[in-house]
Formats: sequence, structure tokens, C-alpha cells
Amino acid sequence: MFFYFKENNNVMKKRNMTVTVIIIIAALVLLFMIDNLTRPCLRPGELPERYIHEHTSPQYDPESYANRRQRLNEALGDGVLIISAAARKDFYYITGFDERQGVAVLAPGDVKPFRMFVTPENPADAIWIGERYGTQEAMGKFKADTAWSLENFETILPKMINGTPFIFVHTLDQQIKKLVSKVVEEKGMEVQIKDADSIIHESRVIKDKWEIDQLQQAVDVTCKAHLWIMQTMAPGQKEYEVQAEIEYIFRKNGLSPGFLPIVGSGPNATILHHIRNDRIINDNELLLVDIGAASSGGYTADITRTYPVNRRFTPEQREIYDLVYKASEAGIKKMKPGMKMLDCNHEANRILLEGLHEIGLIPDTTVWWQKRFYIQHRVNHYIGLDVHDTGDYGYDPEKRDEHILTPEIRGRELKPGMVMTMEPGIYLQENRLDYLHELFGHLAGPEELDSFAEKIRPVYEKYAGIGVRIEDNVLITETGNNILSENLPKSSDEIEAAMKRRKW
Ligand code: GLY
Ligand code: MN
Ligand code: MN
Repeated sequence: MFFYFKENNNVMKKRNMTVTVIIIIAALVLLFMIDNLTRPCLRPGELPERYIHEHTSPQYDPESYANRRQRLNEALGDGVLIISAAARKDFYYITGFDERQGVAVLAPGDVKPFRMFVTPENPADAIWIGERYGTQEAMGKFKADTAWSLENFETILPKMINGTPFIFVHTLDQQIKKLVSKVVEEKGMEVQIKDADSIIHESRVIKDKWEIDQLQQAVDVTCKAHLWIMQTMAPGQKEYEVQAEIEYIFRKNGLSPGFLPIVGSGPNATILHHIRNDRIINDNELLLVDIGAASSGGYTADITRTYPVNRRFTPEQREIYDLVYKASEAGIKKMKPGMKMLDCNHEANRILLEGLHEIGLIPDTTVWWQKRFYIQHRVNHYIGLDVHDTGDYGYDPEKRDEHILTPEIRGRELKPGMVMTMEPGIYLQENRLDYLHELFGHLAGPEELDSFAEKIRPVYEKYAGIGVRIEDNVLITETGNNILSENLPKSSDEIEAAMKRRKW
């Protein structure tokens, strides 16, 4: 009896368990089905609405271009500027003319202060490349006061420069320079040939309303690409597959990449300009994505986020991420009129160094090279027609060792209309400690370097391979700043929440 009961009890228990398991499986299947059914179905090639950007800014605004020529004319004084398409973005900035050949002449003292020389319309070419703008559009669309065929340039050149004390020629315009020098010599002209680059670059620093609209459009589409990959990335993908998803969103919105996308997984996240993008992305790694769409008018965004591939940061990844986030937030507060160019850099670095010291990665914060070991780049650069846009910073950006950790070097004043990045980062490359002698042998003796390595190695190894950069685009305004990329998830909590579940 006793044995029979025990046996019966066991059978009951087994049965109950089986029923429970079946109910749980059925509930999960039901949940899965409901979840799938409630998601809108996408046809191939169709994008969910939240990834489509409504274009608001026209590709070309004659007023913006006329204003910038006016600004340049003021800087030219009695001089004449001659610039060709060989000067690339600087030529485009002045004219908006996007054919491969063309010359513009700005002569403020002339009755026709803006002349263009362009390839004429040509039915033989039209079959290969389509219609050219020709002289009619050079005057109609691009507002030249007069336009000639390019072949007339050499003949008209002496007249255009006659009597001017200065001729400004771009350093990329070697052919123009040769022609000008020949005429000057032949005619025995008393004239100085000057580089045009710096006056054009200075003019590009302050963006007008249309340019800011262009940048906002580029930023918005870039943010959509970030949101898209937050939802679509998965372990096992190749970096270039993520790049393809990014470019898919850019192209679906009518834009193109403003620079080569950086998609760095795992150890590649510690390479500042990793563009090979051919590694397999593994679970538990970080994925650093530094991308920018270029607007239809050519203005490029530059936005970085660093993602946990499996949608949750490990404690170590989160610790480094949160430190970079804190540096970014503090740096952005220093981006306003009254501050100078490098103030935000010094503030962001101060936060990073403080945090790295607390973690145990910098034993002595008074030793310059111990800090330089972690701080690789400044945190801001102009954006515009070039991703690293032209313009003076008030210091030499190439001489990093000079300014990067020197708060006394502050650079030029920030002005409303400047648009720039804020992009602090920490890159803890594996094996980097093995290169201390090569990196800093000129600043410290071998024993000092070895003792530093020995002291921090156990902590360094805990974080080795982690690379984090967070990059936003910031417009300086009269009263402070406007973060153009503000709506993109940024803090570690926001990123995890945004990656949690498909949102279309
Ligand atoms: N994408 C290059 C940079 O962040 O400067
Ligand atoms: Mn970038
Ligand atoms: Mn950048």
C-alpha cells in the first residue's frame, strides 16, 4: 500500500510537471506570435517610417552663396581671387558649382565682380555625362555676373588682373598659378601673388542659417542610421555588414557618406580611424560606430556611439563608457561664447584623467607622459563641407604634444555659428603597455616605465581591449549651444533601452 501510494504520487508529480512545461511553452509561442503579428510587416526595400527623414533644406541656396562671396570680397579689398575646381571644396564653397572643371574670378572692384569660366554645353559629351550647366546656368543658377567658355580664360586673364595689387591663388591651383605668373612676368606687372586658402578657410568657420539646416539634415539622417543599427546589429555579422546597413539608411534618405564609416568591433574599437571594417563582430564585445551622412548640399555630420553587441554593457565596459559620457557632458557645457576653443578639451580630459586615476590606471597625475598614454586626441573639430572642416583654431591642431594637456593653451574664442564635434574617447589597446619604451623612452628612464607598467598591469588587463568614443555635433549659439545630435540615445542606460527591442 505504502509503496503503491509512493509510486502513484511520483506519477502525479511527473504529470503535473509535464503539463506545466507544456503550458509555459504554449504561452511563449503565443507571446512570440502576438509580438510578430503586432509588428507591421515590411515589404522588401521598405523602411519603417521612423527611419525616413523628411528633407527640409534645398540643395542649393543662391543667397547663402552670394553672402559668402560678399564676405570674401570684403577680405580681398583691392585684390582679385582666381580659383578653379582643382581647389575642390574651397571652389565649391564659393560657387556651389559641382562640375569637375571650372574657374571663378572674384574681383570686388570690377563692374562684373563674379566671373565664371565653364565647360560649354556640348551635344557630343551629353551622350556620356548628360547636360552640362554651361555658361547659361553659370549665370542663371549660379549667379555669375558673366560667364565664358573655359578656353577663353587665358585670353581674358591679363585684363582681369590689370592694375590689381594682389592676386589670390589657391595652393591646390598650381596650373592657375603658372598662368598668372606667366602673365605677370610678361607684362612686368607690379603685383603680389598671395595664397587664397586662409581667407576662404576663415570664411567657412561661421555657418549661416542655410548651412546649419544642411548640417541638421545630415545629422538627422546619421542619427537614423545609428538607430537602425541599434536594432539590426547582431553577433556573427561582419563589420562591413553593419556599414552596409548604415549606407542603406543614408541612401534611402537620398544622402551619401561624408567620410569612410568607422565600424570597429572588439579590439578594433581601440583603433581611432579603423576603416577596414572586415572583422566578425562577437558577442560581449563593444562596437564603435563613427559615421556621418553628407547632406545634399555637401555638409557632413560626424557622430559616434559605442554599442554593446549583445545589448547590455559588461560592468567594465559600462564603467569606461560612463566615464567618457561624463567627460562629454562636462565638455559640452564649455562650448559657448566667452569660452575658447580648447577649454572644452581641457575640461573633458580633466574628467577622463580623474576617472582613470580613480580606477588605478594613472598612478601619478602630475607625470605628463602617464596622462598622454591615455589621451590621444583633442575632443573637438569644426564640421562643414569637410568632416574636419577648414578654419583656424588659434593653435596648431597637428602639434598634439604641445596643446593637448596644456590648459594654458586655449585657442581662439568660440563664436555663434561655429559647428563642431565633442568627441572624448578612451582606447585601452591590448598590449599597449608593451610599447611604453618606444612611446615615452625619450621622457622617462626604463626603470620608471617598467615600474609604471608593473603597477597598473593587473588593472589594465581587466579593461584591455575596450575602446569607447562618444561624438556629438554642437552648434555654438548666442546664448550657449545647441546639440544637433541631442535626440540620439547617449547614456549607457539610454543605449541599452534603445537596443532592447525592435521598435518598428
Ligand atoms: N570621424 C573622424 C573623426 O571623428 O574625427
Ligand atoms: Mn567621427
Ligand atoms: Mn570627429
